[in-house]
Amino acid sequence: MFKACLLGLVGVTTVLASASCPGLTVSHDGTPAGTFKNVSGIQVYHTYPPKGKHNASTAILYVTDIFGVPLAQNKLLADSLARAGHTVLVPDLFHGDAVPANALEGPGFDFPAWIAKHPVSESDSVIAKTLAYMRGELGVKKVGAVGYCWGGKYVPRFLKGDAGGIDVGFIAHPSNLDDGEIEGMVGPISIAAGDLDDAFNATRRRTAEDILIKKNTTYQTSLYAGAPHGFGVRVDLMNKRQKFAKEGAFYQAVGWFDAWL
Ligand SMILES: *[C@@H]1O[C@H](CO)[C@@H](O)[C@H](O)[C@H]1NC(C)=O
Ligand SMILES: *[C@@H]1O[C@H](CO)[C@@H](O)[C@H](O)[C@H]1NC(C)=O
Ligand SMILES: *[C@@H]1O[C@H](CO)[C@@H](O)[C@H](O)[C@H]1NC(C)=O
Ligand SMILES: *[C@@H]1O[C@H](CO)[C@@H](O)[C@H](O)[C@H]1NC(C)=O
Repeated sequence: MFKACLLGLVGVTTVLASASCPGLTVSHDGTPAGTFKNVSGIQVYHTYPPKGKHNASTAILYVTDIFGVPLAQNKLLADSLARAGHTVLVPDLFHGDAVPANALEGPGFDFPAWIAKHPVSESDSVIAKTLAYMRGELGVKKVGAVGYCWGGKYVPRFLKGDAGGIDVGFIAHPSNLDDGEIEGMVGPISIAAGDLDDAFNATRRRTAEDILIKKNTTYQTSLYAGAPHGFGVRVDLMNKRQKFAKEGAFYQAVGWFDAWL
């Protein structure tokens, strides 16, 4: 029922989407609906689909940006994905030390020191433990994953086509995603890019496309006009292009999982 509903939707506006498909909207504000659970010492935000929409054999791992689980928009976007029919888990990648939401607004936050405290091995370990919990305790058979900015590097790292990893990926404006990580992806991958994003610029995007085409990967790339780094999560809602880009990236992810997960 949900699939049929979604099929009619591709490319239409939020207003139409919410009118013809109740639930398929992006929450920009409000109170997060999920709850935290302690999973092997990691705080993991859990948010669930409405009853009847749930396919218990699948779930989505949400790999955040540097603002992590404390950021309301991350929890609300996870809730939006849940309303589209998925159980969504958002692990705290940074053990209580995510970058404060206002860090970009002025001087004073020491980014190099923060990066030094959070090596690749830390996020790798949190993701591996969360995946083990999903496959084990939750009994999930097929795992989809979304990754934004920081998380856009880690979804490819775990999209390996093996039994314990991620089966289907979506990433938006990835940071520090290297060619080897793109090369190593096994499984369907959808990428949302913004034309104002310096971290995943036109050169990086075309390189990624060349690699995916050469490998005959099942992929999708979508480029959003006027979309800066971070647009999948944090936008200026008064800016029409940015608002469209965030919502477009959300529908892109939902459609991708509907087809491939
Ligand atoms: C979370 O669980 C771990 C054991 O898995 C325990 O050591 C830790 O104290 C717990 N943390 C909280 C905040 O409950
Ligand atoms: C994109 O960024 C890379 C560095 O990561 C740089 O070499 C390249 O020139 C940039 N491309 C564009 C179109 O700005
Ligand atoms: C690419 O993958 C598709 C789907 O798996 C397959 O049907 C097609 O034959 C492949 N193309 C090449 C050139 O290997
Ligand atoms: C649930 O998802 C699995 C994995 O994609 C699929 O095989 C199964 O048919 C789905 N079940 C229903 C009831 O849609």
